[in-house]
Amino acid sequence: MTEPSHSDPARYLVTAALPYGNGPIHIGHIAGAYLPADICVRYLRLSGRDAAFICGSDENGVAITIKAKQQGISNQELIDNSYGDAVKAFDGLGIKFDIYGRTRTEKHNQVAQEFFLRHHEQGYVQKRSTEQLYCPACDMFLPDRYVEGTCHHCQTPGAKGDQCESCGKMIDATKLVEPRCALCGGTPEVKGTDHWFLRLDSFEKDIQAYINAHPHFRDNVKRFSNNLLKQGLIARSITRDLDWGVPLPLEGVAGKVLYVWFDAPIGYITFTQEWAAAKGKPALWKQYWQEPDSRILHFIGKDNIVFHAIIWPAILMGHGDYQLPYDIVANEFLNIKGAKASTSRNYAVWVNDYLEHFSPDPLRYYLSAIAPEGSDSNFTWEDFQLRNNSELADTLGNFIQRNLVFAQKYFEGTVPEARELSTRAKAMLAEITTARVEIAALLDAHKYKAALERLMRFAQGGNQFLENEKPWTTRKTDLDRCAMAVHIGLRVVEALGVFMSPFLPFAADKLRLMLNLPALAAGDWHQESLLVAGHAIGNPEILFRKFEDDEIQPHAEQLGL
Ligand code: 2FM
Ligand code: ZN
Repeated sequence: MTEPSHSDPARYLVTAALPYGNGPIHIGHIAGAYLPADICVRYLRLSGRDAAFICGSDENGVAITIKAKQQGISNQELIDNSYGDAVKAFDGLGIKFDIYGRTRTEKHNQVAQEFFLRHHEQGYVQKRSTEQLYCPACDMFLPDRYVEGTCHHCQTPGAKGDQCESCGKMIDATKLVEPRCALCGGTPEVKGTDHWFLRLDSFEKDIQAYINAHPHFRDNVKRFSNNLLKQGLIARSITRDLDWGVPLPLEGVAGKVLYVWFDAPIGYITFTQEWAAAKGKPALWKQYWQEPDSRILHFIGKDNIVFHAIIWPAILMGHGDYQLPYDIVANEFLNIKGAKASTSRNYAVWVNDYLEHFSPDPLRYYLSAIAPEGSDSNFTWEDFQLRNNSELADTLGNFIQRNLVFAQKYFEGTVPEARELSTRAKAMLAEITTARVEIAALLDAHKYKAALERLMRFAQGGNQFLENEKPWTTRKTDLDRCAMAVHIGLRVVEALGVFMSPFLPFAADKLRLMLNLPALAAGDWHQESLLVAGHAIGNPEILFRKFEDDEIQPHAEQLGL
C-alpha cells in the first residue's frame, strides 16, 4: 500500500452516492451527500482546481424490484419516474453534476462485468454452494430484503434479510428467526444454490494499511472500518438469484446477477467514461481514475461506509488498474423533527415539494448550517424559518442590502472613494484576507458547517463595522469618512459574494449582477477586489426574504408530529 500523496493534486474526481432509483429524493439525502459534494466541487473550481462531479441512479437490485411490486408498476417505469424526479430535484437545488447517469445500461453492464471477470481470473472470487431462503409460493429465492424476520443478533422483529436496521449488523438470512417472504408473507424454506464470493479476507491486510494510510478520514469512517477489520473480513457473496441486475458474465449461470453493491460503485467509473465520451475525449476518464496525481473523493451517508471504505477499495485493489479513494466523506443522519425519515411512512421532506414553495438557497443554507457532520442532526420547519429569517435575511441579506442601497442613494450608484482608512477599516480589510484563508482551510478539510459559521461571523463583522462607522451619520458631518465606510462595506459585500457562492450559488450569482461584476469563474476565490472607486453598481434587490408563519405552518403540520 503506497502512501497517498498530500501535495495538491492535478485534478479531483468527486462522487456522491448513487441514489436508489426507487423513489423521490428527500432532504436527508441532500444533507447526507449531495449538498456537501456540490459545495466541495463549487469551491474546488472557484479556488482554481479541476474537478469532475459524477453521480447517477442506482437502478439494479432488489431495492427496485420490491418497490415496483409494491406500487404495481414495472421496474422500468419505477426507475424512469425516479430518474425524472432526481434530475428535477438536483437541478432545482443547483446541485450540478457533470453527469447524472444510470446503471441500467448495456455500457454499465460491460464495465461491471469486466471488473467481475478480472477478480474471477485472479482468484479473488470463488464459487460456493450455499443455502438460501426460497419461497415456494412465489417460486423464487429471497435475496436480501425479500425476506423479513427477527434479527438473530439483537432479536428486533421486522429485520430485513441483508442488514438489521436496529443493531446495524449484517444478517445471515437463513438464521433469521421466523422468516417470512416479504412478497407473500409465506414461510420460506432453505434450498441450495451456487453463489460467487468476493474473498475480502485476501484483502484484509491491504485494507487495514489503506485505512491507516488515510488518517484524514472522518472519525466515523475510521471507527467503523477499524471495527470491522478487528472482527476480521470474511468472503461475501457478490451474486444473487434475481432477474434484475447485471448478468453474471459466465457460462451456464442463467438467473444469476451481480449483487447491486458490487455493480453500484463501479457506476462511478461507468459514468465518468460516459462523461468523457460526451466531451469528445473518450480517454479523459483514465486521468481521473488511474493517474496517481488525481484525488478521488466519495461523499456518502453513514449507512454506506462499509461499502465505500472496505468493499469498494477491495474491488479496486483486485482490479489493479485504479487509484483508491483519497477521501470518503461520510455524514451522519438528518432526522426530521427528532425522528428518522421514512419513505414508506411518507415521513420526509421531499425536495420537489419544497421547491414548489421556496427557492433553493434557504434550504441549502439551513442544511449546511445543521449539517450532520459529527453527529445526527435535526430538521424542523420552525428552525428552518427562524434561521432563514434571522441569519440569511437579517445578518447576511440585510448587510448586503444596506451597503448597496447606501451607495445607490448617496453616491450615485457608484463605489465611493476611500481617501483615508480608519483603523477599523484597516482591520476590516485584514479580516477579508483572514476570512478567505480560514474559510478555505475549513472547506478543504470538508468542514462545511464550520466554514459556513465562519462566513456568517465575517458577515457579522461587516455589520459591526457599519454600526461603528455609522455612515448614515457621517454622511452629514464628514462625507469623506462616510465614503470610506461605504467603500469598505462594499468590499466586504464583494468578498461575501465569493465566499458564499459554494453554499448559496443562486444568491451569489444575483449579487454579482447587483455589483455589476462579471460572473464568478474558476480561480476567483483568490481574486483581488474589482470594486475600484467610481465603479458603477447595478440595482440592489432583496436577496433573501423572510418567511411568515402561515407559509411555514402547513409544511410543519403535514409532517404530523
Ligand atoms: O444507499 C444508497 O442509496 C445506495 N444506492 C448508494 C449507492 S452508492 C454507490 F456505491 F453506488
Ligand atoms: Zn439486530
